[in-house]
Amino acid sequence: MNNVLTTILERVSVRSFKEDKVPREDLELMIKAGMAAPSAVNKQPWEFIIVDSSALLFELGSFLPYAKMTKFAPAAIVVCGNQKNMLDGWEESFWVQDCSAATQNILLTVESLSYGAVWTAIYPDMTRIHIVKRILDLPHHIIPLNVIPIGIPEQNYNHKDKFDPSKIHYNRW
Ligand SMILES: Cc1cc2nc3c(=O)[nH]c(=O)nc-3n(C[C@H](O)[C@H](O)[C@H](O)COP(=O)(O)O)c2cc1C
Repeated sequence: MNNVLTTILERVSVRSFKEDKVPREDLELMIKAGMAAPSAVNKQPWEFIIVDSSALLFELGSFLPYAKMTKFAPAAIVVCGNQKNMLDGWEESFWVQDCSAATQNILLTVESLSYGAVWTAIYPDMTRIHIVKRILDLPHHIIPLNVIPIGIPEQNYNHKDKFDPSKIHYNRW
């Protein structure tokens, strides 16, 4: 197996982290991978916020019930959509797929650099969106898709084997 496949198959969600800081250059490398993702009409409607202030991380984790692990994470990346840079009409909702592709690239880069992370959902829950917008001072046109706490995993995790051949269909259903 090559390195890319190993990274894909061994990625797991990590929800507890050591205290060690994550250098900004590593976080920027993760975002570089995020920006390499495909996007509809190559719109790249994404923005990324690196959060490495322990006060802000604690506040995010305190207010977001499904992202409590962010409280004590050394860093997080918040993947956002920029409404000023989205497609028009029915194509606008492609931003979610574009930013999700970027998110998966980030998660795989996290794994490849021996860090751990978990995708915690913000969009489309309006309550969570308002919480993140308030804490991070996001302007009106910036919509947070997720918060990804990142750090060195506190323990070893075994990846789950999710391969299910019954979900593969050849030619017709
Ligand atoms: C769209 C999406 C939303 C998710 N939201 C949360 C969340 O709010 N909190 C959380 O702890 N994990 C969240 N997860 C992580 C999933 O629980 C996790 O990916 C799933 O259990 C499979 O485990 P694995 O990532 O280790 O393969 C989310 C994942 C996705 C793709």
